[in-house]
Amino acid sequence: MSAVITTHGLTKIFRHHTAVDSLDLVVPHGQVYGFLGPNGSGKSTTMKMLLGLTQPTSGSITLFGEPLTRASRMRLLPSIGSMIEAPPGYAHLTGRENMRIVQDMLDLTTAQIDHALATVRLTEQQHKLVRHYSLGMKQRLGIAMALARDPSLLILDEPTNGLDPAGIEEVRGLLIRLAGEGITVMVSSHLLDEIDKMASVLGILAGGRMIFQGSRDDLFAQSVPDLVIETPDPAAALAQAGHATPVAGGVRLSGLDKEKTAAVVQRMAVAGVPIYQVRRVQQSLEDVFMDLTGRGGLL
Ligand SMILES: Nc1ncnc2c1ncn2[C@@H]1O[C@H](COP(=O)(O)OP(=O)(O)O)[C@@H](O)[C@H]1O
Ligand SMILES: [Mg+2]
Repeated sequence: MSAVITTHGLTKIFRHHTAVDSLDLVVPHGQVYGFLGPNGSGKSTTMKMLLGLTQPTSGSITLFGEPLTRASRMRLLPSIGSMIEAPPGYAHLTGRENMRIVQDMLDLTTAQIDHALATVRLTEQQHKLVRHYSLGMKQRLGIAMALARDPSLLILDEPTNGLDPAGIEEVRGLLIRLAGEGITVMVSSHLLDEIDKMASVLGILAGGRMIFQGSRDDLFAQSVPDLVIETPDPAAALAQAGHATPVAGGVRLSGLDKEKTAAVVQRMAVAGVPIYQVRRVQQSLEDVFMDLTGRGGLL
């Protein structure tokens, strides 16, 4: 069994609003699956359906090769650790006391709690009140709560939200390490940057629809590199180019295939724009993401 999560036509409609629209997810075993999309694109709603916290309007979910139903949910859930939306935890209790609640609820051993706290590097801070934790420590406590049961699947909703770069790096290292141990990790974010360096598979949502699912390399392969036209007269080049951005020494154009490139270059030449050089430059992954989710899409 290579996929830990699959969904077919997974859909959630709130009154007249389709929050999640016909999703076909495939989350492979032992990898970090980055679930990306702008705020409001349906990430949390999807994760809640995967955990059986919200009923789908239509479509189906398979976890560990087994259909998720009311009956199977109780059997499947113990293998899944999750953190949805805000990090959990009572502010007036210490980290350890919060873990104790999880321990009692799930009937875990003290060794499991110690191990989870050590994994997120909270051992030394475990006796501090959560109200005195930084956001990063709260996120890590949330991950420890999800980890304590030794899950084979972790579903984490925006665990890097609001963290500083060092905190993001810490969570990133942790999730990569867990995947290396064979735990499947599905992690969401609205910021590509936070996910990019840890996820080996990306699922990108926009308006409830999956607009891309595959490897980072696949994403690059499907994007059209930008075109930079070097010229001493960028104003004249802009006049011929339509949508273009002035850059040092010329103009930059996005989303032009071979035919459109030929047409633009010819227009400029006919208009007497001096062209020193025409070259392709790879977009940043952030640009590809913005194109997909914000500027109409290339796929
Ligand atoms: N309980 C709910 N009732 C009505 N609309 C909801 C509810 N939960 C989420 N939505 C709507 O569904 C859409 C997707 O929300 P959400 O899954 O939270 O997105 P994300 O996690 O990607 O920010 C949004 O338009 C949101 O307003
Ligand atoms: Mg959300």
